[in-house]
Amino acid sequence: MMGFELEEIDHVAIAVRDLDAAAAWYEAVLGARVTHRERIEPDGVEEALIKVAGSYVQLLTPTRDDSPVAKFLERRGEGLHHVGYRVSDCAAALEAVMASGSAVIDERPRPGSRGTTVAFLHPKDAFGTLIELVEEQPAGRH
Ligand code: CO
Repeated sequence: MMGFELEEIDHVAIAVRDLDAAAAWYEAVLGARVTHRERIEPDGVEEALIKVAGSYVQLLTPTRDDSPVAKFLERRGEGLHHVGYRVSDCAAALEAVMASGSAVIDERPRPGSRGTTVAFLHPKDAFGTLIELVEEQPAGRH
């Protein structure tokens, strides 16, 4: 027993160079609708969220050169950046992952966009994919 459950795919994040162009493409070609836009200054990113059933596609672009997403675009180009899984308790899930010995980026949960609480796991132990645990509640509310 893991002690926590991945409840849903919260979002799939895609790194793009031009957020307006990417959002316009999703709207024009796939009939998608951007429902939320937000700059997350501590992470140096701006996001455009497209709702797909109970999940999101998160188009992500850097707001400054030293943003991790800017470095990602430089190294790997545009494309899949990370997968966010919804959990009911981010702190508990993160603790269980750390107890397993798998590498994490965030050793404690922190605020994400949309008022969520998030923590990133390191891709080196996750077969090359950056993983984010997402709780739909602000940090410290339970
Ligand atoms: Co994310």
